[in-house]
Amino acid sequence: MSLKESIDLSKLPNHVAIIMDGNGRWAKERGKNRLFGHTNGVKSVRETAEGCAELGIKYLTLYAFSTENWNRPILEVTGLMDLLLRTIMAEVKTLQDNNIRLRTIGDIDALPGNTARELRVAMEQTAGNTRMDMILALNYSGKADIVQATRTIAEDVKAGKIRPGDINDKMVNDHLYTAGIPDPELMIRTSGEQRISNFLLWQLAYTEFYFTEKFWPDFDREELYQAILTYQARERRFGKTTEQIQGQ
Ligand code: IPE
Ligand code: IPE
Ligand code: MG
Repeated sequence: MSLKESIDLSKLPNHVAIIMDGNGRWAKERGKNRLFGHTNGVKSVRETAEGCAELGIKYLTLYAFSTENWNRPILEVTGLMDLLLRTIMAEVKTLQDNNIRLRTIGDIDALPGNTARELRVAMEQTAGNTRMDMILALNYSGKADIVQATRTIAEDVKAGKIRPGDINDKMVNDHLYTAGIPDPELMIRTSGEQRISNFLLWQLAYTEFYFTEKFWPDFDREELYQAILTYQARERRFGKTTEQIQGQ
């Protein structure tokens, strides 16, 4: 039986989040510059998005650029922004054909003007698509997301709209960039690193983590299927005991 056929479609994660890591090392192994690695990472994005949509996964979040990534050499940063711009422009039609909605989380206003503009156009064009949401985390920081949510809530308290005691899980959720998006059940990180790197801090509270040694440009559908199968073999206990879970 193929990996894909082994997947239990009734137990699919609704939301998969991915830290796409290892482009630089993939390029270095080939004696090329880092941008060569990023360029080759685009086909993995395409493969993963198509693979998830085909299975019936409803949300795919991809960590594409962190707030910390601004600290990289300027040529790499401008190269990444340029790649992002070109990729969005080239792929909008594929998103439309596949009925995929493009969304973003992070501070998009701080991206170069033309990149932010194209992103907005692509988001508008795909806004009515219903098969899957592809959410790009761009200029994203999990801590910054919690900070901006806290500020907005504090303003509401100050304005007398709510009392401090009204603040709960749901209210915080509703003020994050991810408002309305269910938390990921599965988080994948490529390249062998085992850390969150300021990705979805709040939203990953009960997420299953899957780490693979593969560099992002080598991540393909089979890798995706393997991650989902591993997820399906896990027991999600949410604080309860095995006996309680099995008795349900
Ligand atoms: C991930 O690959 C892509 C981005 C962070 C934009 P890296 O560029 O981090 O690759 P490594 O980790 O240096 O190999
Ligand atoms: C995390 O990867 C950010 C993205 C994949 C966009 P990094 O390569 O920047 O993370 P660290 O610095 O190794 O933790
Ligand atoms: Mg990295």
